[in-house]
Amino acid sequence: MSAQAETRRLTAPDIRARKGGEPIVALTSYHAHTARLVDAYADVILVGDSLGMVMHGFESTVPVTLDMMILQGHAVMRGSRRALVVVDLPFGAYEESREAAFRSATRVLKETGCGAIKLEGGVRMAETIRFLTERSIPVMGHIGLTPQSILALGSFKAQGRDRADWPAILADARAVAEAGAFSIVVEAVAEPLGREITNAAPVPTIGIGASAACDGQILVLEDMLGLSPRVPKFVKRYGNLGPSIAQAIEAYAKEVRERTFPAPEHTYPERKPTT
Ligand code: KIV
Repeated sequence: MSAQAETRRLTAPDIRARKGGEPIVALTSYHAHTARLVDAYADVILVGDSLGMVMHGFESTVPVTLDMMILQGHAVMRGSRRALVVVDLPFGAYEESREAAFRSATRVLKETGCGAIKLEGGVRMAETIRFLTERSIPVMGHIGLTPQSILALGSFKAQGRDRADWPAILADARAVAEAGAFSIVVEAVAEPLGREITNAAPVPTIGIGASAACDGQILVLEDMLGLSPRVPKFVKRYGNLGPSIAQAIEAYAKEVRERTFPAPEHTYPERKPTT
């Protein structure tokens, strides 16, 4: 049996079972090469619709399409073997009706081979989440700051900074869990609220700008590697790849201009005729 066949991919039920247990490590990836690197350490790889901003330079995730998500989801599946791959349903692909959500989700699962989808929204999306989970589609919820609502929200700002706003956000968490989601991303909420949501939710919470008490954490890979020009307050930079990439490109440009690249070891010698 090959090494590839021996590696079992984590499933949505595996992640669901981690409530209150070993913290869940999650990161985004949109490409096969980064997926291979992330796969060695992460339990969950999210093909986030943040790819619209990170890969394509859009101002928000609103312009992202289902086809874009499927293309990158497929690439991440090819690059990974162990992590559960979750693909975001983009804005416009699921809000209209439960049936529209089902059609989008089944396209993503069939065409990428991933193990689950994620969608944004709490109480307002609970009926849709139930419709999907009752039809064998694993759903990761996403509450707190929901970036796809940027046009209605006006800005990307932290939620639940005032205690008066907590009941609605806690109700979102309960509704998503009761509807059958196997885990919930909790984005940009006041730290004590992130802790309270984690205590209240029967499924794992995966924090991004929430609380260290969450059952897991997620960051956008390019943000934590120091490749994104602007990052939210909740991002810790674990690397600073921007300057080393710039340095490598500068050295390449110099050597091309000086004709010192390619060197003999990077070229193919002529084959001598055999006598
Ligand atoms: O799109 C994304 O990358 C996300 C994470 C920030 C959770 O939804």
